[in-house]
Amino acid sequence: LNYCVPRTRKEIFETLVKGLRRLEYRGYDSAGIAVDSDKKTTTEDNSKIVLIKKKGKVKALDEELYKKDCMDLEVELDTHFGIAHTRWATHGEPSALNSHPQRSDKNNAFVVIHNGIITNYKELKKYLNSKGYEFESETDTEVIPKLIKYVYDNREREDLSFSTLVERVIQQLEGAFALVFKSHYFPGEAVATRRGSPLLIGVRSKYELSAEHIPIQYNSGLFKEGVQDKNSHNRPDKPDNSTAVNSAGDGKAVEYYFASDASAIIEHTNKVIYLEDDDIAAVVGGKLSLHRLNSLAGENPVRAIQTLQMELQEIMKGNFEAFMQKEIFEQPESVFNTMRGRICFHTNKVILGGLKDHLKEIKRCRRLIVIGCGTSFHAAVATRQILEELTELPVMVELASDFLDRNTPVFRDDVCFYISQSGETADTLMALRYCKDRGALTVGVTNTVGSSISRDTDCGVHINAGPEIGVASTKAYTSQFVALIMFGLMMSEDRISLQPRRLEIINGLRILPDMIKKVLTLDNKIKSIADELYQQKSLLVMGRGFNYATCLEGALKIKEITYMHSEGILAGELKHGPLALIDKHMPVIMIIMKDACYTKCQNALQQVTARSGRPIILCCQDDQEMSKNAYKTIELPHTVDCLQGILSVIPLQLLSFHLAVLRGYDVDCPRNLAKSVTVE
Ligand code: G6P
Repeated sequence: LNYCVPRTRKEIFETLVKGLRRLEYRGYDSAGIAVDSDKKTTTEDNSKIVLIKKKGKVKALDEELYKKDCMDLEVELDTHFGIAHTRWATHGEPSALNSHPQRSDKNNAFVVIHNGIITNYKELKKYLNSKGYEFESETDTEVIPKLIKYVYDNREREDLSFSTLVERVIQQLEGAFALVFKSHYFPGEAVATRRGSPLLIGVRSKYELSAEHIPIQYNSGLFKEGVQDKNSHNRPDKPDNSTAVNSAGDGKAVEYYFASDASAIIEHTNKVIYLEDDDIAAVVGGKLSLHRLNSLAGENPVRAIQTLQMELQEIMKGNFEAFMQKEIFEQPESVFNTMRGRICFHTNKVILGGLKDHLKEIKRCRRLIVIGCGTSFHAAVATRQILEELTELPVMVELASDFLDRNTPVFRDDVCFYISQSGETADTLMALRYCKDRGALTVGVTNTVGSSISRDTDCGVHINAGPEIGVASTKAYTSQFVALIMFGLMMSEDRISLQPRRLEIINGLRILPDMIKKVLTLDNKIKSIADELYQQKSLLVMGRGFNYATCLEGALKIKEITYMHSEGILAGELKHGPLALIDKHMPVIMIIMKDACYTKCQNALQQVTARSGRPIILCCQDDQEMSKNAYKTIELPHTVDCLQGILSVIPLQLLSFHLAVLRGYDVDCPRNLAKSVTVE
């Protein structure tokens, strides 16, 4: 919504498309836009809202926009509300018809964009069908614009506001959603709401943005400004009520941006409000107001305006070919940022600000349960052993979906960790709610300040790796790894017997960024290995102990972006099945580091070479023994056993990147995948 200065339609398109581009990593099978039409518009139905939708990437939509020569691109608009969406299909194949905005009718009276999933859409569709509504897409979303039109057409009072209509609609919805509505009955007005899926509002003012200048009312009109704290687990939902400010202001001074992710709006403003479940935000006459569906007594009556510290360049590709490549090469800095201000290398103290108030409680717990999906789960697997050693507690690592499928018993004296880069993964969030209901203490480990997981947990750690755009997670993994190790170090501070071990790890962490830099110099060598392997169908990755997680994570990277079949195999299980796969044609990568599993790994190596396998071995520098037996070696600097996995995963990240490029695939947008999976 533009109120700062008049904008041309072209600028509005550019703003929306740029925002979509920044969000494209979350879904990219089709995209769409809705803007107000103008006098020159000669759409099929002559409606007041123009919908333009296209299968494929945002680029395809962008090109389509300028083909509509019926639209006056240079016309200047004082006020305008446009919406746009990029889709990751859940219901209905990727197509223009199934993409969003979805509409109520041929006149586009109501148009809606949706992130999430409506689980009761079949019942709603049946009902609306019985009322004569005809559906044109296969999406679950389409019930929403149809339903709001139905409520509008059947309203008893004439003066029902747009937000009241939305309120009535969401009362009927089950599932997860972030929704933004536009309607030709309410020109220039915007309504947005969420339940379960993230949604934020960027606020930009031509004045220095102090809260006094923001025209917002929330029941009693209370708003406050807060600054993001990178070192603590900031809880933006808990502002201090005592600093309420006057919300009156000049409506013509503010632009609002609704988005599911801050990266879409950061180039316009760093002031954001995170909406809570069942908040309804409306902009009418240039003023933003928030209200809640079913206000509950005792609820927090304010929403803080946060100042984001994300930089635009953090979400730009720079000179790299792909975000994934940039993120791999950022790891010396990203792991450093995870540790920054938290480890004192003189006193060997580790302080995670977001956990310190809960440390006593955590130390008294019966067990730790570490839960995540995909790469985040692998970070839990990677650190399980060292957490067991340093905390002397039983540690369970769990895939969120399986954890829920099993109705796993959870108790009040359990401490449950949720590892999630995005902080929005639906399975992980559901596991969080499950454990909360059972009274466990919940701890978030996320990379996204203000995300659902960081807000809904009792306490937590932000890994501070910076925005990760590539769908295949890289720097978030190494930072999650480091954050979990720091937690172990914090827990073991008073254990005298563990001090030598702690010291060894802390010294290892101190030089970790330099070691990562050394590993990154192997890039050319890894590229040449990729040149040899890229036409293969399969690639096995084998290891054990501290490096088992590296095998799982390396294989995941390979399958995600190269579409080769790849398996991470526990070397101890080799003889129980996987050995049958080995012959002289099957490429095998083995991780054999000088740690407690070295001899056992050598046995696995013998078993592979005895079957004419030609292993590529990731090993420690100057390991003559390995060079003798390997088809090829990738030699890594040697570090403390529990940190070695941070170094050994990097060659596999690089390998998967080069393989994907050689195979001609889009590294950042692998088919069928999305960065942030906000549906179950
Ligand atoms: C998706 C992504 C993966 C990621 C997983 C968990 O599947 O494609 O890269 O590891 O979700 O995401 P989270 O944001 O919870 O770490």
